[in-house]
Amino acid sequence: MSKRISISDALKSLLVKKTKVVVLTGAGISAESGVPTFRGEEGLWKKFRPEELATFDAFMANPELVWEWYEYRRKIIEEIKPNPGHLALVDFQRYFDKFDLITQNVDGLHRKTGSKNVIELHGNIRRNKCIQCGKKYESLEGTIDGIPPKCPCGGNIRPDVVWFGEMLPQDAINYAFAVSSECDLFFSVGTSAVVHPAASLPLIAKRGGAYVMEVNISPTEISHIVDESLLGKSGEILPSLVKYFK
Ligand code: OAD
Repeated sequence: MSKRISISDALKSLLVKKTKVVVLTGAGISAESGVPTFRGEEGLWKKFRPEELATFDAFMANPELVWEWYEYRRKIIEEIKPNPGHLALVDFQRYFDKFDLITQNVDGLHRKTGSKNVIELHGNIRRNKCIQCGKKYESLEGTIDGIPPKCPCGGNIRPDVVWFGEMLPQDAINYAFAVSSECDLFFSVGTSAVVHPAASLPLIAKRGGAYVMEVNISPTEISHIVDESLLGKSGEILPSLVKYFK
């Protein structure tokens, strides 16, 4: 059972008022499920070079390697379960009248847990697309076996995630900017807040007058601008906030 953590009166009253809430999540929310984060001591980018695995040029230069790396990550994700942090955000969605969940994660865990209308800024690792005709594939059905598989049009199939140097899905980022600028309460959860444009969202929320909260195991780039930081695991802090819902 999660205990009540100590929060400010300002946050308490925003929780009770059922204000307009936006939550931005990053890799840290899935860390307690066993999904590796990107930065930090055990982070993926400590062991692997993003320019060799997470760019379009890398895929063109070595499609087998890039495909295999994503298969390795997919395998990790398939075997893991959502944690209490993901579950608490389902309660957030039920409780607040206006609630938007924006994630940088490609693991699909929010949706798997039951969160609805999740804005996936960086795509979804389970989905694929053809580099030639752009056709999206929710499964590999209809593709031609291979590493990577091929689309019937002849193009290589790639994961439908955003790589370095690529644009974010336009509708998703526009929506994220809009709701962040209009919300009353914004949570930045488990993200190092260094990768833009996602990292701009807490700043946009702040500029729009929102009360900005951070939930992280350690301070980040935005800690000095947020109104309140809750230091600790999101799988413990988020469920403890649910206890303040009336
Ligand atoms: P990072 O790996 O940069 O940051 C993870 C954050 O989670 C760090 O600030 C940790 O301190 C924090 N953290 C770790 N465990 C936690 C826990 N149990 N509870 C709360 N916080 C915890 O991951 P992101 O910020 O998500 O982009 O990275 C942003 C983007 O960079 C990713 O979406 C990915 C990557 O390159 C693409 O692939 C396009």
